[in-house]
Amino acid sequence: MSDTAAKPRPQFRNIGIAQIASYRLPLAGKLSILHRVSGALLFLCLPLVILPLFAASVAAPQTFAAVAAYAGNPIVKLVFLVLVWGYLHHFCAGIRYLLLDLHIGIDKQSSKKSAGVVFGVSLALTLVFALKLFGVL
Ligand code: HEM
Repeated sequence: MSDTAAKPRPQFRNIGIAQIASYRLPLAGKLSILHRVSGALLFLCLPLVILPLFAASVAAPQTFAAVAAYAGNPIVKLVFLVLVWGYLHHFCAGIRYLLLDLHIGIDKQSSKKSAGVVFGVSLALTLVFALKLFGVL
């Protein structure tokens, strides 16, 4: 074997806690983890937060006013913003996965590019919602 032969790249299989810091996850991997996190967040918050608040807001003018007052609190607005981000990230990444399922953009370069596009679009849309939520727009 020649001296110029490339060193074997480290292989990670079923990484342990100690390897997490040295494991460099590609952008598409980070997107995938956040897609699962956002899916779980939506799944948990839909029956516990979103539907009860929606039901109260449409039940009567008094309950609408109570929800509106509650939603005016900046901490509550931040919680709503996390949910908005969760939905937008899950939606945009979901469309990417559906395209991948159709074998569109499955080569390494395209998949890296589309992961960046999903992060860009979902974060830009979240920013627009944040500006609207905090009264800047
Ligand atoms: C309230 C609405 C939603 C909830 C609660 C939800 C929840 C979830 C959960 C829990 C998963 C499993 C994640 C995992 O195990 O990695 C998932 C996967 C998925 N979701 Fe959603 N989702 C919602 C809306 C959407 C929307 C609007 C889209 C379409 C754009 C979408 C597309 C997908 C896709 C394609 C997968 C499979 C991803 C894969 O192949 O790994 N979801 N969703």
